Amino acid sequence: MDTHRIALVPGDGIGREVIPAACAVLDAVGARHGVSFSYDEFDWSCERYLSEGSMMPADGLDRVRGHDAIFLGAVGQPGVPDHISLWGLLIPIRRQFRQYVNLRPIRVFEGLESPVRGARPGEVEFVVVRENVEGEYSEIGGRLNRGFPEEMAVQESVFTRAGVTRVLDYAFTLARSRRGYVTSATKSNGIVHTLPFWDELVAERGALHPDVRWDQEHIDALCAKFVLDPARFDVVVGSNLFGDVLSDLAAAVAGGIGIAPAANINPERDFPSMFEPVHGSAPDIAGRGIANPIGAVWTAAMMLDHLGHAEAAAEVKASIAAVLAKTDVRTPDLGGTATTESFTRALLEFVGR
Ligand code: NAD
Ligand code: IPM
Ligand code: MN
Repeated sequence: MDTHRIALVPGDGIGREVIPAACAVLDAVGARHGVSFSYDEFDWSCERYLSEGSMMPADGLDRVRGHDAIFLGAVGQPGVPDHISLWGLLIPIRRQFRQYVNLRPIRVFEGLESPVRGARPGEVEFVVVRENVEGEYSEIGGRLNRGFPEEMAVQESVFTRAGVTRVLDYAFTLARSRRGYVTSATKSNGIVHTLPFWDELVAERGALHPDVRWDQEHIDALCAKFVLDPARFDVVVGSNLFGDVLSDLAAAVAGGIGIAPAANINPERDFPSMFEPVHGSAPDIAGRGIANPIGAVWTAAMMLDHLGHAEAAAEVKASIAAVLAKTDVRTPDLGGTATTESFTRALLEFVGR
């Protein structure tokens, strides 16, 4: 029996509802493939912040450094400023564990209606590769002249040659195992320093991958093309902020943000990678037991893949596809009346079938 130590951080809101659902699927598929999971659960959350003054303990990262992977639900709760909760937990993990690739695949499933005309199952299947540790998410900047008419906020972006190159190489290499096509998100017509540098590096790395076709689109036009012609994309690579926005848009094109998975990958494997659905803590529906668990379950499949269990991962993905294609069980965000629990039960019936 192969056993993996997983650090579980359900977090806030629906994070606490979708993580148990995904663990039930992991346990079921694991049992069929001789894989077991030992979960260490951490209560790091906004609730912890409100009672103890910090999202996680001072030695939090040391406590999860030795795990095989981190499985996180979502972080954020009304009443705690988002930049405090996220910079107190999620973002330090991504940065300190050098999870510089955020992989966010999406597909249009059979049986799941896309709001986008022409987004057909079998045709739309692409992955957003998001730079995950630098770019627009930086600590450099400040607030000046508070309370005066001249008040201002300045926020720097950081694009390093090493940081951009490594995520681009990841994207080009990934494309080689797919349809061999990379689209780079840019905005070098309006942003005069960072994005022209990004474009130069794309051209440089693209030349080193002659078997991969690539092009670039300005982020505004790219958003329109995601909606008008989503089938054209294979690998879409973007900076931290562009990748963030594109991944929710891609999820919406595929039917809803509750279905989208994400893997924060440390490719060198000198630190654990972290797996979390794309969506947030959804305070508007939290506590009602109706969150869509597909994003978290697909995320669990990405974790299985990362841990070397490709067959088990494929089985989990197939169970999602089967429930959507063969039943009308859907959570309310997808127009149904199922609960997180009843949808998960339906998934479990299809695992391994
Ligand atoms: P959100 O993803 O939480 O919610 C946006 C909308 O999508 C809401 O209407 C919500 O009900 C719906 N939704 C999201 N996931 C769903 C699911 N699984 N099933 C059904 N409906 C779902 O985004 P937001 O409203 O911008 O953020 C809410 C909080 O979550 C904020 O505090 C934000 O900072 C945080 N957040 C955290 C993460 C993370 O920890 N990875 C990611 C995004 C947002
Ligand atoms: C995501 C989220 C986070 C991000 C927020 C909550 C900081 O939106 O994981 O996509 O922007 O990275
Ligand atoms: Mn996001």
